[in-house]
Amino acid sequence: MEFWLIVLIIFLFTVLGLLLSLFLSFILFPIFGGAPFLPTHRARIRRALKLARIRPDQKIADLGAGDGRILIACAKKGAKTYGFEINPFLVWKAKLNVKKAGLGDLAVCQWKSFWNQDLSSFDVVFIYGITHIMKKLEKKLQKELKPGAKVVSFIFSFPNWQPETKENGIYVYGKWRLCHYNR
Ligand SMILES: C[S@@+](CC[C@H](N)C(=O)[O-])C[C@H]1O[C@@H](n2cnc3c(N)ncnc32)[C@H](O)[C@@H]1O
Repeated sequence: MEFWLIVLIIFLFTVLGLLLSLFLSFILFPIFGGAPFLPTHRARIRRALKLARIRPDQKIADLGAGDGRILIACAKKGAKTYGFEINPFLVWKAKLNVKKAGLGDLAVCQWKSFWNQDLSSFDVVFIYGITHIMKKLEKKLQKELKPGAKVVSFIFSFPNWQPETKENGIYVYGKWRLCHYNR
């Protein structure tokens, strides 16, 4: 009887641990760090790639890569794409999806908060965040991105920049360095 009680307690702790890590990974950390997992519709991604004129010679970042769909779409255009994702379950899923798509080295997903990533080498940065991060992210991008770099934001716009193009929840920022902005 005692043996089965110990087994039951271990089982309950394992289940609780798993539920807690799912809650932290899918809800708590993403909400505070960027946005919860809400995948962008593939048709919207295709349109965004057209509006941002993604080319094979570009280096691209997806801040919060989710299941890797933006990485895959950009890599299919021949561009080297890096995703930064805070949720380890999604990093695993994104890597699996990239592998299934046969894109090998062109699409890379790292388990990392994008706040800790230097973005200075990227030509195009994708983000699908939520309102409360946009001001802080605007400052980070303003500080780190090179002249001429583009930013594509889904659904949410940046507070100070004027988009070059705005269409159906897709905001493309190009000449953002020319906009008035207080650092
Ligand atoms: C709205 S989803 C977008 C997913 C994907 N980019 C897409 O468009 O389909 C936001 C993603 O950002 C991730 N995320 C939130 N905060 C993050 C952070 N600080 N660093 C890296 N990823 C983060 C979430 O786990 C979630 O997968």
